[in-house]
Amino acid sequence: MIGVYCSRTKIGESWARALAREFGDDQVDLYPFVLPESIEFIACWKAPNRLFHSLPKLKVIQSLGAGVDHIFDGDNVVEQAEIARIIDPQLSVDMYEFALVTILADMKNLTLYRDQQKDKLWKERRYSTIPGTVISILGLGVIGSTVATKLSSLGFQVQGWSRSKKTIEGVQCYSGTGGLSEALSATDYLLNLLPLTNETRGFLNQSLFDKMKVGAYLINLGRGPHLVDEDLITALDREQLSGACLDVFHEEPLSKEHAFWDHPKVLITPHIASVTNIETARQQVFENIRRMKSGTALLNVVDKVKGY
Ligand SMILES: NC(=O)c1ccc[n+]([C@@H]2O[C@H](COP(=O)([O-])OP(=O)(O)OC[C@H]3O[C@@H](n4cnc5c(N)ncnc54)[C@H](OP(=O)(O)O)[C@@H]3O)[C@@H](O)[C@H]2O)c1
Repeated sequence: MIGVYCSRTKIGESWARALAREFGDDQVDLYPFVLPESIEFIACWKAPNRLFHSLPKLKVIQSLGAGVDHIFDGDNVVEQAEIARIIDPQLSVDMYEFALVTILADMKNLTLYRDQQKDKLWKERRYSTIPGTVISILGLGVIGSTVATKLSSLGFQVQGWSRSKKTIEGVQCYSGTGGLSEALSATDYLLNLLPLTNETRGFLNQSLFDKMKVGAYLINLGRGPHLVDEDLITALDREQLSGACLDVFHEEPLSKEHAFWDHPKVLITPHIASVTNIETARQQVFENIRRMKSGTALLNVVDKVKGY
């Protein structure tokens, strides 16, 4: 039996319909589960804490997104079950398009002109160009490496940083602490595409901002808890950083009281940089169900020790 839990109910219902069409209505149990004791495969996004500990036959936990921090953070790792995630070229392309538009909008001062327009202010600003712009990407995994390659092919100077050293054509790749400092000191735009783990939580903090070129711009596309919010506000207020686009937050939706909403140098987007598309992602989920049934190796398995 296949269980479905998605914190966004309508998306959960769409996945349940797609799975029922493929495997039959009687094979799919949408949360709240009618038959928890029969569920072997769970397709999930942000399930309640420890929910999976109440599924005794669970063999596979399939994240319905690229990230799996919702499973680890929710204490939903179950010893006997493997964890798989979505790897979909469309997710990487969507992320690239979002990064590109955010960088270009800032390079050409579009949000600033929108603010000036409110005051009918005609004031020219200096703009930067693609060949003169250095972009650094934290995390050169499936998404980060695609974004890096595509930005490089447009003529940006692209650097990337990951746990293990990579070789990517057109991208200056770094690893380790020394490599990170070197990359940061030359950075105009910093894109965070790390997974959220115990090692990367709070990674975007004052000490990292201090290593960045003065006036650099932060784009957080990873997860909210990568960022120490107060440190970002300090870095913006003392002009160490010129601005930030934040797509992800500690708490989502972002609380109405949060200081980010009214900060003139912060651009907020509601976790939409790259969203799993059922049409392009469903076949790999179907395939993992078939593989579980036949006892063959799953697609896109997550390393439970590394946590990503
Ligand atoms: N905002 C959105 O809409 C949205 C959408 C999709 C995904 N995301 C986020 O994007 C993240 C990345 O996705 P992905 O599919 O590219 O992940 P991935 O393939 O697992 O790649 C992760 C990358 O981060 C590096 N890394 C992990 N821990 C590190 C550490 N402690 N120090 C240095 N590098 C480290 C890895 O290094 P190695 O290569 O050496 O292992 C790898 O290069 C997801 O986890 C999710 O949080 C956000």
